[in-house]
Parts: sequence; C-alpha cells; structure tokens
Amino acid sequence: MSSALDRTQMSLIAASSARTYAEGVLVGNGVPRENAIIVAKCLVEADLRGVDTHGINRIPSYMARIRQGVLDARASPTFQQVTPAVGQVDGHNGFGFLAAHLGMAKAIGMAKEIGIGMVSVKHSNHFGMSAWVVQQALDEGMMSLVFTNSSPALPVWGGKTKLMGVSPIACGAPAGSGRPFIVDMAPSVAARGKVYKALRRGQKIPTDWALDKDGNQTDDPAKALEGLMLPMGGPKGSALAIMMDVFSGVLSGSEFAGHVTNPYDPSKPADVGHFLVAIKPDLFMGLGEFKQRMDYLYQRVIKSDRMTGIDRIYFPGEIEQLTKEQRICEGIPLVQAEVDALNKEAKQVGAGSLVLSPSSVKSRL
Ligand SMILES: NC(=O)c1ccc[n+]([C@@H]2O[C@H](COP(=O)([O-])OP(=O)(O)OC[C@H]3O[C@@H](n4cnc5c(N)ncnc54)[C@H](O)[C@@H]3O)[C@@H](O)[C@H]2O)c1
Repeated sequence: MSSALDRTQMSLIAASSARTYAEGVLVGNGVPRENAIIVAKCLVEADLRGVDTHGINRIPSYMARIRQGVLDARASPTFQQVTPAVGQVDGHNGFGFLAAHLGMAKAIGMAKEIGIGMVSVKHSNHFGMSAWVVQQALDEGMMSLVFTNSSPALPVWGGKTKLMGVSPIACGAPAGSGRPFIVDMAPSVAARGKVYKALRRGQKIPTDWALDKDGNQTDDPAKALEGLMLPMGGPKGSALAIMMDVFSGVLSGSEFAGHVTNPYDPSKPADVGHFLVAIKPDLFMGLGEFKQRMDYLYQRVIKSDRMTGIDRIYFPGEIEQLTKEQRICEGIPLVQAEVDALNKEAKQVGAGSLVLSPSSVKSRL
C-alpha cells in the first residue's frame, strides 16, 4: 500500500466536465434532467472543496442503489407547511440532495419573510457533503444549521458495536470582506468517507481513526470498515452523534437509533432524516454591523498568536474555500482507478466519459 500520491499520478478533470459527466450518468439511470442538474452540482461542489470523499466518486454506489431498486431515481421531494416558520419535506426515497435542496430553499424563503425557517426532512437518502447546503443558505445571505443522521458506524461511549452514524454537524454565517464561517464536521475523529477514499486509492489511514473488528487499532482501511469509527473527543463525539439522530431521525419520522441503511448497502432503502434551519442575520442589528462583527471575528481568529510550527491559522471552512479556488483553475484530481470506475458507469448507460483537463495532460508530459 502506498501512503501518498503525487500530482503526476492524478488525472485532472475540469468542474464543468465533472458536472456534465455526472448529469449524463444520472439521466442515463432514470433521474429527470432538472433533478440530475442539482445532484451533479452538489457532488462536484464537494470535489471542488477538496471533500473528495463525498464527490462524484460516490456515483457508482448511488447507481447500485438505483439498479437494486432501493433508491427511487424518478422521485421528487414534496413540501408541506406546518406553521409559518416550520415545514416538512418528504424525500419519497429519492436523492437526499434533492430533499435537502428543497428543504433549505423553503427554510430560506421563510427566513426572508419572518426571520427564521425550520424544515424537517423525512424518507431521504445520503446527501453527501453538508457544506453544499450551508453554501446554498450563504448564497442567499443566510445563517444556517444543517444536521443529518446516517447509518451506524461508531459506538456510543462505552459501547463496543457500531450504533450511531458519523453524522455531520454543519452550520454557517455570512461575512463582509472576510471569509464566511462554514463548519462541516463528522462527530468521529475522521469521516468514514475518508476510509473509503483511502481504500480506493490504496493508502493507509492514521491509527487513531478506527478499530478493526477485534477492537485493535488499524491503519488498514478495509479492516477499519469491518470495525468501528472512533468518536472525536470520546463521550462528547458520541453525544453529538446522538444529537444528530434526535434532531434528524426521531423528530422527522425517519429511521433512527441504528436503523438507517449504509449508502454502500444496496439491500434496502436508507430512510435518512435531515434537520435544516435558515436564520436571517440582521434580526438584532443592521446587516452592515453584523458583517463588520463577522469580519472582526475572522481577523481576530486568523491573527491569533501561532504555536511553534504553525504557518497560518485558518477560519473554519477557509481551507476548503482555498481548495475550491485552486481546483476551479486547475481541475479536480482523481486517480486512474477512480476515473476507470466512473467511466465504467458512463459506459453502462451510454453516457459521456470524463474529459481530462488540458493541465492534466501537460503535467504528464
Ligand atoms: N452525509 C453524511 O452522512 C456524511 C457523514 C460523514 C461525513 N460527511 C461529510 O464528510 C466531510 C468530511 O467530514 P470531516 O469531519 O472529516 O471533516 P474535516 O475534519 O476535514 O473538517 C471538519 C471542519 O474542520 C475545519 N478544519 C479542518 N482543518 C482545519 C484547520 N487546519 N484549521 C481550521 N479549520 C479546519 C473544516 O473547515 C471543517 O469545517 C464533511 O463534508 C461531511 O459533511 C457526510
């Protein structure tokens, strides 16, 4: 197993090519074009932000679920208003991306009208990287909370079998001239997607991420996937994972308490729940003052005295935004095995394959 890959081992794909590819495969598998555009955009946003664990590489597993009949490619989510500030989306077992996208759009609409909007989402599926939902709110100038539950991957504190999901907690707030605040983090030491990525790329993982099925530390991603992900901060990570299940699973009417199905398991519907809130940032002061305060916070954080060996302090979400700026120019790096697996999906439905960006071809000369 290699532990690192240099850029000459990677193919670079332009974001537009990745989106066209993803739309083609989705449409080829029965997803209506207008829905395929949304799903492709969300997946490529993850690749652009460097969250390669939740980008187009997920397509083969999602298509396997469609072919197995446990994810409805044709389903579109529906919305029901519950109170002026609250609504519910039923995902009808379609893509989680569509249910969360509709849910956040409705939450934003309510927040614009009355200051806050809360949407519970039921009967949904995996929606990938939470930060795209946060970004959807930021694009409309809104603060947000974005919660989801997910399939069992980590034990509760003191437990020895997986029960809770590595369900990400995400939130965001707009800024003025500084970077917006975007937190998007799994309550485990690392997201399980990072273990799947290491497996795909033939890499080892740090030994503090997971235990094998016998409870021993492991650097082997295959053994880690048979075992347990470790919660971050011990009982605190476990508590946050339970919190995601309370707000996303118990509240919505979706599965919870260890009964959500893994997105890589094509044997039955997942029934994931989400919890989405949009908040107008100028509820207690003018928008200008709010943004100035966010900019001041940003400056205080990044200019904080640095520990020895630290070159730069980043605001939450800033590394991913810098990666996005770079990848928009240079393309999204993929290893050959990933390109091959993705192109195999395209071939199955007669869709176009991925096109290498010119910078990728140059770097190999
Ligand atoms: N849909 C699902 O079921 C599911 C499940 C698990 C994870 N995920 C996704 O996996 C992704 C990765 O999760 P993760 O927990 O491994 O994220 P991570 O550990 O890479 O990052 C967590 C947070 O810490 C911030 N951060 C990281 N390094 C930093 C630094 N040096 N300085 C300042 N801030 C820093 C990031 O901006 C981010 O907000 C997320 O996008 C998450 O939504 C999705």
